[in-house]
Amino acid sequence: MPHVAYVNGRYLPHAHAMVHIEDRGYQFSDGVYEYIAFYNRRLLDAELHFLRFNRSLREIEIASPVAPAALPIIIRELIARNGRDNGGLYIQVTRGVARRDHPFPKHTKSSLVMTVCAAKLPKEHEVKNGVKVITAPDLRWARRDIKSISLLANILAKQQASKHQAREAWLIEDNGTVGEGAASNAYIVSNGEVITHPTGHEILGGITRDVLLKLAKKAGIPVAERPFSAMEMKKATEAFLTSTSANVLPVVKIDDMTVGGGKPGPVTHKLQELYSAHVLRQTGKIL
Ligand code: PDD
Repeated sequence: MPHVAYVNGRYLPHAHAMVHIEDRGYQFSDGVYEYIAFYNRRLLDAELHFLRFNRSLREIEIASPVAPAALPIIIRELIARNGRDNGGLYIQVTRGVARRDHPFPKHTKSSLVMTVCAAKLPKEHEVKNGVKVITAPDLRWARRDIKSISLLANILAKQQASKHQAREAWLIEDNGTVGEGAASNAYIVSNGEVITHPTGHEILGGITRDVLLKLAKKAGIPVAERPFSAMEMKKATEAFLTSTSANVLPVVKIDDMTVGGGKPGPVTHKLQELYSAHVLRQTGKIL
């Protein structure tokens, strides 16, 4: 299968797709990104991802390198050139190439890179039986709502998870509450109510989170958007996580503690069904 990347107006073989060493993304992590899943060549929740992407760009004052209307056209072409029906799309914009100096360069055009990869769907046994997460201190900056390419703290937390054979690390804030995962949003279920951290500067407003909470509310499942403590987490009857690549994944172990007797619970199961139906409706894909 061909592997083609988009770099500043050109479609290039992935192996030869390069950016300059003075790109501010490389020098300073001065940029933002998005990750969108596509099935049957249809982007899932594209509008919501584009809204978040444009918001991230605005928040760090990077002008979009292409007209907003051009982006879906370039993406369609890139997916077609990769000959892939199902997969993931990374869109990355940086402040561009300029002599190294902290303040924004004056006349530099932002850089746009897009890559396509195989779908990163969780394994069948993870979807059915659940996964383990660990907890780790949240070492990130104070604007986690911006989907920044600066992922060092996320990477370190994920590496800890990996070392402990865990799927994810749930990040604990200084006040002892759970914010989100290193690359996903975090939830518990208590007395039948789904509890997750509210959006704001402390977490990334996940698109999967947004869609799922709307589906839950519509189905009459109670939802509370409030922080939950690590103590409360220990008493939860169910737990789960969401992201573009994981969808809705039950969590059955947090550190050494078993959740819900080590089995996914009925609320999580219902939410998995609701989300799968959403993906099927939009893209025709059976998760
Ligand atoms: N990560 N929180 C963080 C810190 C994330 O990095 C992500 C997504 C999410 C979930 O957001 P969404 O539902 O929009 O995927 C929450 C993506 C998958 C990534 O890093 O590629």
